[in-house]
Amino acid sequence: MASAIVTGSGGLIGSAAVRFLIAEGLEVIGIDNNARRFFFGPEADISWNITALRSNYPQRYRHENLDIRDEQGVRSLFARYGKSIVLVVHAAAQPSHDWAGRDPHTDFSINAAGTLNILEATRRNAPEAVFIFTSTNKVYGDTVNRLEFQELETRYEPLPDEPYAAHGVDERMSTDRCMHSIFGASKVAADIMVQEYGRYFGLATVIFRGGCLTGPDHSAARLHGFLGYLVRCAILNEPYTIFGYKGKQVRDNIHADDVVNAFLHCFRSPPPPGEVFNLGGGRTSNISILEAVDVCEKLTGNSMRICYDDKARTGDHQWWISDTRKFQSHYPQWKCKYTMNDIIDEIYFGMLNRKDIL
Ligand SMILES: NC(=O)c1ccc[n+]([C@@H]2O[C@H](COP(=O)([O-])OP(=O)(O)OC[C@H]3O[C@@H](n4cnc5c(N)ncnc54)[C@H](O)[C@@H]3O)[C@@H](O)[C@H]2O)c1
Repeated sequence: MASAIVTGSGGLIGSAAVRFLIAEGLEVIGIDNNARRFFFGPEADISWNITALRSNYPQRYRHENLDIRDEQGVRSLFARYGKSIVLVVHAAAQPSHDWAGRDPHTDFSINAAGTLNILEATRRNAPEAVFIFTSTNKVYGDTVNRLEFQELETRYEPLPDEPYAAHGVDERMSTDRCMHSIFGASKVAADIMVQEYGRYFGLATVIFRGGCLTGPDHSAARLHGFLGYLVRCAILNEPYTIFGYKGKQVRDNIHADDVVNAFLHCFRSPPPPGEVFNLGGGRTSNISILEAVDVCEKLTGNSMRICYDDKARTGDHQWWISDTRKFQSHYPQWKCKYTMNDIIDEIYFGMLNRKDIL
C-alpha cells in the first residue's frame, strides 16, 4: 500500500495531515516524540491527539515515538517503508520564536539538522516522493516592519501606497539582512536546504512559508499558538499578556485543514522542485490582538484579564498578511474554506469539549 510519512503527527498541522492523507487512501506513519510538552509544559502535551489518531485509524495510522534528531533511527524507519513512501509531510519543529532564544542549540538541532535527516532519508529511500516542508514567515525576519504604517483604532495597516499593502507579502521579500530571531534563523537554514534538495538533487520538494496556522487541534501554550492560547485564557479567565504594539499587531490566520488541503494539491500535481509559496489567511482572514480579544469577550460574555508589556518581542512583526496569489495561480481550485470567525468559533467550541483543559 502507498504510504506517507508525517513528522510532528501529534501537532496541529501533522495531525490534520494524517486525517487528510488517510482519507486520500494512504497508510500514514506518524513521527512525534511529544517534544512539544518538553518545550512548553504539560498544557502543550500532544498525547491526546496521538491517542485520537490511533483509535480513529487503527489500521491505517502507525505511530513512531522517534526524535527526528536521531539520524540512524530516521534512516532505518524510512528504509523499512522504502519506495512505498509517496509523500513526506515534514511538520515536526521547535515552533516558538520565544523558546528558541532560551536554547539555540536544541532549536537548531531540531529545525535545521532534523530537517536534513528527513531530507536525506527521503533521498536515499524514497527519491520519488513529494516532500512538503512547513516553513514560516519568520524567514523574512523583521523586514516587514520597515513599511510605513498607519495606526487605526484597533490595528496597524501599511499606508495604502506601501508595497504589499493591498495583497500582503509575497515570496519576493528578501530573507536576508534583517533580524530573524533564533527561531527564524534555524527555519531559514531548513527552508534553504529543502529548496536545495529540490534544485540540486531533483527531489520533489515544496516549501510553504506560513503565517499563523491554527485550529482546534493545537495544543496551545503561552509561547506558541497565539489564537488557541488567547481563547483558552478567555475560557479559563486567566490573564493574557500583550507584548508591544499596543495590541494592534496584525496576523493572518489560516485553519490547519486549509493548509493541508494546499499540501494535497501539491501531492496530486507537484510544482517544480524547490518551489516556495507563502500561505496564510491573507487579506480575507486576519486579525489584530485587540480585535481577537473583542471576539473572545463576545463569545464568553466576560471581560478578559489583559496585561500590557510595552516591549515587543525581539524581531516580532508589527503586521503580517500573506499574499497567497502565487499558490492560487498554480492551483486555482484551492481556496480557504474557513473565515476568521469560523476559526475562532471552532477553537472555542473545540476547547469547551476538551476535558483535559477544563
Ligand atoms: N502554528 C503556526 O502558527 C505556524 C506558523 C508558521 C509555520 N509553522 C510551522 O509549521 C510546522 C507545524 O507547526 P504546528 O503549529 O503544527 O506545531 P506543533 O508544535 O503543534 O507540532 C509540531 C510537532 O512536532 C513534534 N516534534 C517537535 N520536535 C520533535 C522532534 N525532535 N522529533 C519528533 N517530533 C518532534 C512536537 O511534539 C509537535 O507535536 C512547524 O514546522 C512550524 O514551524 C507553524
